[in-house]
Amino acid sequence: QDDKFKKVISHAKEYGYVFQSSEIYDGLSAVYDYAQNGAELKKNIRDYWWKAMVQMNENIVGIDAAIFMHPTTWKASGHVDAFNDPLIDNKDSKKRYRADVLIEDYCAKIETKIEKEVKKAAKRFGDAFNKEEFLSTNGRVVGYQEKINTILARMGKSLENEDLADVKALIEELEIADPLTGSKNWTDVKQFNLMFGTKLGASAESAMDLYLRPETAQGIFVNFLNVQKTGRMKIPFGIAQTGKAFRNEIVARQFIFRMREFEQMEMQFFIKPGTQGKWYKHWKETRMKWHLSLGMGAENYRFHDHEKLAHYADAAADIEFKFPFGFKELEGIHSRTDFDLKAHEEFSGKKLQYFDHEENKSYVPYVLETSIGLDRMFLAVFSNALQEEALENGTTRTVLKLPSVLAPVKAAILPLVKKDGLPEIAKQIVEELKWDFNVIYDEKDAVGRRYRRQDANGTPFCITVDHDTKEDNTVTIRHRDSMEQQRVKIEDLRNMIKQEVDV
Ligand code: GAP
Repeated sequence: QDDKFKKVISHAKEYGYVFQSSEIYDGLSAVYDYAQNGAELKKNIRDYWWKAMVQMNENIVGIDAAIFMHPTTWKASGHVDAFNDPLIDNKDSKKRYRADVLIEDYCAKIETKIEKEVKKAAKRFGDAFNKEEFLSTNGRVVGYQEKINTILARMGKSLENEDLADVKALIEELEIADPLTGSKNWTDVKQFNLMFGTKLGASAESAMDLYLRPETAQGIFVNFLNVQKTGRMKIPFGIAQTGKAFRNEIVARQFIFRMREFEQMEMQFFIKPGTQGKWYKHWKETRMKWHLSLGMGAENYRFHDHEKLAHYADAAADIEFKFPFGFKELEGIHSRTDFDLKAHEEFSGKKLQYFDHEENKSYVPYVLETSIGLDRMFLAVFSNALQEEALENGTTRTVLKLPSVLAPVKAAILPLVKKDGLPEIAKQIVEELKWDFNVIYDEKDAVGRRYRRQDANGTPFCITVDHDTKEDNTVTIRHRDSMEQQRVKIEDLRNMIKQEVDV
């Protein structure tokens, strides 16, 4: 697993997807830059989300609010008081860790043990093996699972009640060691606010303390009534937004999984109070369907219903994805009640109510939120796509099986040789296709090597121009995943590609 993850990171760099930020200065921890292909993939994921949310839903509109917001926003939202991480320092190594992450990692180790048992048993019982049954009846596995549940429940409860001494006690009882040095000499657990502060204004006296937004959601809440009125929106309706968010994550780790500067794609759905149960279920299902539509394997997703809820929620679930380091949160679906709008009413002194003509009364709507990290989705897509395939001739090929709709380059146009007028024809095809798709021209190296390069880059189609092209206006189109080749007319290329890459 570690091996696979290392390959993902080095492939992302080698093929121009993700670079460490400020690399020439040895990088900046947990900050990354998207390179030429990465920027395209990220944009395509964002567009795919926007299309499903905004374009396909008559009652959802999109906005683009500023990163800077009035500082009172964050008092109202609860982030000043409650957006904290519990931190613990190791006295010997002087390293700082998130206490809950140390405990979660410990549980993940037990989960790995369960997985090993399952694999062993599957081998032993062959076709007769039933995973669900094994998980519920095997004494040792059930015991492990119970242990995990007890530990997580206790951590959840302690954090909720701010009983940080109990979190420390848990770390000591489990004999959790500093992952780097093995030392078990811990300080007390302390809360640490995750928001980045900055200043607005020139002179020290008049400067105003601001925060970089830690979520995009608040830009939607403060604009709720403006959008509702100007868009003449009727409940239920949604407001969607994508944009940067910033969190001073202490344990920023696992590449672009947890970053300090990242992008969110959020949608707030405003509903009549009392209907949140129905809409919570609706959005859980709808969002899962969106994920499944990309064809990355249903077995790689699962729901995780929260017992421990954030300060604003009355129900919450994550859609978890199987990353190379195990199942982790990809997206959150939160029933946020009227917490945010009520708080903004209170702090701003302005009414944020909706007049319901059917009911003939005003109320503060309830909110259902879907919130996904764009970078995390990028990692899910990229790591799932990267495969090493054994070929019939005994060699292996590295192929990035990105969903075609998301691939940065849709087709590479390759002249078989650099002479006889073939480059000119290939360039002409590029000129024609580039109006509809991101395509590239490549004439360097033997055509087999060019195919491999495009496979590793995730390009769904290679189009080769050869001597026959001059005779009959046909080219070879090669499919990335099946490696099958077809002879097609140049004039049919556009529609063929469109069929595969359009949603
Ligand atoms: N408005 C609700 C909200 O922000 P969250 O669970 O804190 O909820 C939502 O974040 C999503 O944002 C997560 O599911 C994750 O995909 C992404 N996310 C959160 N923190 C992140 C980080 N430090 N780096 C990358 N993505 C992050």
